[in-house]
Amino acid sequence: MFELTGKTAVITGASRGIGKAIAVKFASLGANIAFLHYCDAENAAATEKELNEMGIKAKGYECNVADFEASKKAVDEIIADFGEVHILVNNAGIVRDCLVLSMKEADFDAVIGVNLKGTFNMTKHIYQHFMKKRRGRIINISSIVGINGNAGQANYASAKAGIIGMTKSVAKELGSRNVTANAIAPGFIRTDMTDGMPEKAREAALASIPMKRAGEVDDIANLAAFLASDEAGYITGEVIRVDGGMAI
Ligand code: NAI
Repeated sequence: MFELTGKTAVITGASRGIGKAIAVKFASLGANIAFLHYCDAENAAATEKELNEMGIKAKGYECNVADFEASKKAVDEIIADFGEVHILVNNAGIVRDCLVLSMKEADFDAVIGVNLKGTFNMTKHIYQHFMKKRRGRIINISSIVGINGNAGQANYASAKAGIIGMTKSVAKELGSRNVTANAIAPGFIRTDMTDGMPEKAREAALASIPMKRAGEVDDIANLAAFLASDEAGYITGEVIRVDGGMAI
């Protein structure tokens, strides 16, 4: 297995779900963890405690990634608290599902704001740090709907497709500095986000998965750990589906 000892990872949206699983996996491989959360203080406190009990340094920062200035402040604080950052995982995301016919402008803006602009904000604020250190790993959590689209998710699919374009662009910009940027495209993963789906939609999603089961958060965390490791040093600009074949 890979190891991340001596590395520091910044993970957005790690108070629960996929982000938390990535934080726990990275910590189990020896990484220190700075994580962002928003409006989820109780889970964030529990996550921080759990990570620190694993014997690494961990700290949570309340921050709305959609807010350019707030995310800059969080990154500055993290660098002051931890010193060098080696890995950035842009995981924070929200959904506001609705057909375009009835989608409100605010639903479009909110989803683009957190998922896409949040990814830009964090990447922008850490960019020079990675450039100067001449190393870094950026792992962006996209979605298979960013590849295939999905009725009722025009806002979310646009954001997730945008993340793929951003990942490839950043990979080209920073490749010569030994910084990699890759995207993970999960399919249907069991978390609070998917637990909140209407029963019919959940059944339809499950029926369309060749492996006939939902994914688990560790299915994503395992790939993130590989992409963050030294062993993945020559992989960049890649989009990797983890979906049990859902988007074949
Ligand atoms: P979740 O809803 O369980 O967790 C989302 C996390 O993001 C929470 O920690 C929350 O505090 C944080 N967050 C939300 N808004 C934020 C903001 N404005 N600023 C900072 N943090 C914020 O979601 P889940 O399922 O763990 O999803 C994680 C990522 O994986 C998201 O980007 C999601 O779009 C993506 N994804 C999830 C899939 C699934 O089936 N669960 C499928 C494909 C992609």
